[in-house]
Amino acid sequence: MNQKRTVAVITGASAGIGEELARVFARHGHRLLLIARRQQRLVALADELEPGGPRPLVLPLDLSEPDAAARISDYLAAENLEPDTIVNNAGYGLLGHASTLDRAEQLRMIDLNCRTLTDLSLSFIEPLARHRGGILNVASVAGFLPGPGMAVYYATKAFVLSFSEALHHELAPQGIRVTALCPGPVPTEFQARAGIHDEHIPRALTVAPARVAEEAYRGLLAGRRVVAPGLFTKFVTQVPRFMPRGALIAATGARQSARRRSVSPAPKVTANPSPKPNS
Ligand SMILES: NC(=O)c1ccc[n+]([C@@H]2O[C@H](COP(=O)([O-])OP(=O)(O)OC[C@H]3O[C@@H](n4cnc5c(N)ncnc54)[C@H](OP(=O)(O)O)[C@@H]3O)[C@@H](O)[C@H]2O)c1
Repeated sequence: MNQKRTVAVITGASAGIGEELARVFARHGHRLLLIARRQQRLVALADELEPGGPRPLVLPLDLSEPDAAARISDYLAAENLEPDTIVNNAGYGLLGHASTLDRAEQLRMIDLNCRTLTDLSLSFIEPLARHRGGILNVASVAGFLPGPGMAVYYATKAFVLSFSEALHHELAPQGIRVTALCPGPVPTEFQARAGIHDEHIPRALTVAPARVAEEAYRGLLAGRRVVAPGLFTKFVTQVPRFMPRGALIAATGARQSARRRSVSPAPKVTANPSPKPNS
């Protein structure tokens, strides 16, 4: 029988944490399938990584579409590949009250952050078990608390954390490692996408995406259930143990309100600018 080659599938590899995860996995000799919507970014990353090993494959795809996991599965079959690692990293958040933010955009966030992540986590159990592989699901410290001011985002990350921890337990007997990565603040495109601008977070509280990726890789290999990179992040994951839930919700809500106040008003865009007078 024709032996299939193995691959690490990394979603959201065109920027931020996902791009760094791709670099770490490539450094450790994995063949990669890089997925996101911005094809040029993925191709540029594949160009960068190719000299160190097999050229990463690139699949431009909107992962919020309901058939995203099926399309990845079809692509892998056509390329005679099967995953030994799934990295569900693609995701975004939105700053603002859930009742005032665009509803469709929030539902798409659930499709991406939760639905496709779940589908991809469950689609390849057999090859993952055969290769004693792993699933790295990117949650967040946000998964440990309710988050007024980013309610849907925090809820999606609570889902990812809960689901991944349970899956860690369920799949251990089959030799599949499952790790929930829970970063705190990481300077990436995430903040701008969420509508968070001009925010000053002390450098001591942020962790660089390259370090997040390195700790995540090591944690996955070590079979850790949860990885929270950085001291501050570890502290935040413990706060719910000693702070009353009501106070915690109020504190998170106050932080998101402060973020909203720091947002400078967007410049006015005129749909049909009046033509310049001829000089
Ligand atoms: N940065 C933080 O402070 C932080 C903290 C905790 C957790 N996280 C989590 O870390 C993960 C990565 O975030 P990041 O900080 O690296 O953000 P980022 O720089 O904005 O990167 C997000 C990645 O997700 C991809 N993506 C977004 N929507 C997509 C879609 N519909 N289909 C396919 N790909 C999509 C983007 O690619 P395209 O736009 O090219 O599609 C990009 O590659 C997310 O799950 C986020 O929730 C981030």
